[in-house]
Amino acid sequence: MIVIIDFGSQTTHLIARRIKDLGVPVQIVEPKKFRPVMVPEPQGIILSGGPSSVYEPGAPTIDPVIFSLGIPILGICYGLQLMSHLNGGKVVMGRREYGPVKASLTIRGKESLIAKNILPEFTVWMSHGDEIVKAPTGMKVFGTTRNMKFAIVGDVKKKQYGLQFHPEVEHTDFGLEILRNFLAICNLKTGSTTISAPSLVEDIKETVGENYVIGAVSGGVDSTVAAVLTAKAIGDRFFPIYVDNGLMRHDARDHVEKIFEHIGIKPIIIEAKKEMLALLSGVKDSEEKRKIIGRHYVRVFEDELDRLEKKGINPQFLMQGTIYSDVIESKGTRHSAKIKSHHNVGGLPKHMKMKLLEPLREFYKDEVRAIGLKMNLPKEFIYKQPFPGPGYAVRIRGFVTEKRLAMEEQADRIVMEELGRAKLLDKIFISFPVLTGAMSTAVKGDGRSFSEVVALRVVESADIMTSTWAKLPYDVLQTISSRIVNEVPDVSRVVYDISTKPPATMEWE
Ligand code: XMP
Repeated sequence: MIVIIDFGSQTTHLIARRIKDLGVPVQIVEPKKFRPVMVPEPQGIILSGGPSSVYEPGAPTIDPVIFSLGIPILGICYGLQLMSHLNGGKVVMGRREYGPVKASLTIRGKESLIAKNILPEFTVWMSHGDEIVKAPTGMKVFGTTRNMKFAIVGDVKKKQYGLQFHPEVEHTDFGLEILRNFLAICNLKTGSTTISAPSLVEDIKETVGENYVIGAVSGGVDSTVAAVLTAKAIGDRFFPIYVDNGLMRHDARDHVEKIFEHIGIKPIIIEAKKEMLALLSGVKDSEEKRKIIGRHYVRVFEDELDRLEKKGINPQFLMQGTIYSDVIESKGTRHSAKIKSHHNVGGLPKHMKMKLLEPLREFYKDEVRAIGLKMNLPKEFIYKQPFPGPGYAVRIRGFVTEKRLAMEEQADRIVMEELGRAKLLDKIFISFPVLTGAMSTAVKGDGRSFSEVVALRVVESADIMTSTWAKLPYDVLQTISSRIVNEVPDVSRVVYDISTKPPATMEWE
């Protein structure tokens, strides 16, 4: 078993997922709860990353006895910095690095256990502000980057290693190999594990018993897969509800109807666009928008519950398609930072006496898709682009008005049409235009137009935690740009967003 000590990284759970994928049991423990004697005793310990600085008062730390237990240790990012701080090294506020960086190995031969099956040069993903300027006592440098001497360090005898980058994220080359190598150093056999969809259905049956469940569905893959599992478990005691808040793609409602025809349950569809736009009127701040949309959602559900209760149906559970990336970005663990409040995380208002049923809370997007495939769902349901719950409201910077919503919808249709025409949609995780709220000058028909800048965001990802921007062909970019400035009123120019995540999130708000 591997124990991961969680210092609040956005990707602690992802480390756990990778270890589990390699067939090794894993447990995440808070630093204060770590005890030198654990039953069962772990064969390896991973110190996670985290948002703090080791030299700040109150930064999470660990009992230094951990380094003399004889158990192999791998420190990742903050974990490595803490290792250095507690073992005679030095950490300072340094050159920040976020996103891809080239790393070069400086070890060969007997010492290279941690770097087995890895090319001498490879791309790693960084996300740090602090830097090690002196390695922990006894540790040698095994890999460097242009800016960083201590990218990979290790003490082969003590079986203690440190990585400044994140091996757990999908965009680090050989990340899984490095973790596999560490498991081999811990004398752990690796294999693979698969998720069992039938056991998820059994879990729901057991949790729900004879009760009724209402479900929040959106047509997105997460709530669709959660709904299929729930429908399989409890059949017509499940009431899926779709709220048409006017902020979704134009075909979202038809898509939901198609999904539930396939599942064989009739969804309750509620029209709420007018009310939604009225509530958002005059609101600029993105977190405020999210909160308003979330509150409205809960109110609509309460009304629907009243209606069901009048028919003698009293649901005890609310099913949501929450997945792990929603949880972590909404500050799901003790030491993690809040990135944005996904409205489907954070529980229900106290007066709503329902329990949450979130069968996919522990899974990532690619795992959810794999479960969907196992449940024989059509590919068009599974590979649909994710769309945020607050919809276009977070893609329109500033005020959401009827006019700007129409502009966003039109630009969005153009982007989808052109990517579809170029047969690129299969390679893309998510694509959308952003009404940036920035104004710029254009010349249209010899006259000056001072109007809005649209940003195009097209990214590739599998598990949402990291992403790269799509290297779209220039002619496709040109067609999208020309069509948006020509066809959408009051747009002056189109810019292409070439930021990776981290540091930039996929959505702009
Ligand atoms: P970010 O922008 O956090 O996006 O990199 C990651 C994924 O989450 C979606 N997203 C949301 N989904 N409520 C949601 O249900 C939200 O408030 C929200 N914000 C972002 C985003 O579209 C992407 O798929």
